[in-house]
Amino acid sequence: MEEYSDKVKDHYMHPRNTGVIENPSGEGTVGNPVCGDIMTIYINVDENDVLTDVKFSTFGCGAAIATSSMITEMAVGMTVDEAYQITRNDVAEELDGLPPIKLHCSNLAADALQAAIDNYRAKKDGEL
Ligand code: FES
Repeated sequence: MEEYSDKVKDHYMHPRNTGVIENPSGEGTVGNPVCGDIMTIYINVDENDVLTDVKFSTFGCGAAIATSSMITEMAVGMTVDEAYQITRNDVAEELDGLPPIKLHCSNLAADALQAAIDNYRAKKDGEL
């Protein structure tokens, strides 16, 4: 069995930025139909389109928790355009790799962040 990196274990054991943002600038929820894991990401964005706060709540496997924790740290301080470009590979690299069988779990983190940004953009454009 492949080992998890120390970084993955650390983020799993001590997840950063867990919780809910009340009245966030945007939020996005995605689920993995195969395993049933669900992740929500909340973002706050300032007037310059910079992410000032990112939080997550995840009901999922260890890799899903570690990747959501990691992506919140990566995204804070980025513009929404930059954060939208974060891929699952970026997250996995930042965690010093994930076992191949767990790579799909990191999809959730990138997808949930994009969903939260979509929600923010739609609100800003007055579509919601
Ligand atoms: Fe479901 Fe990892 S097993 S996200």
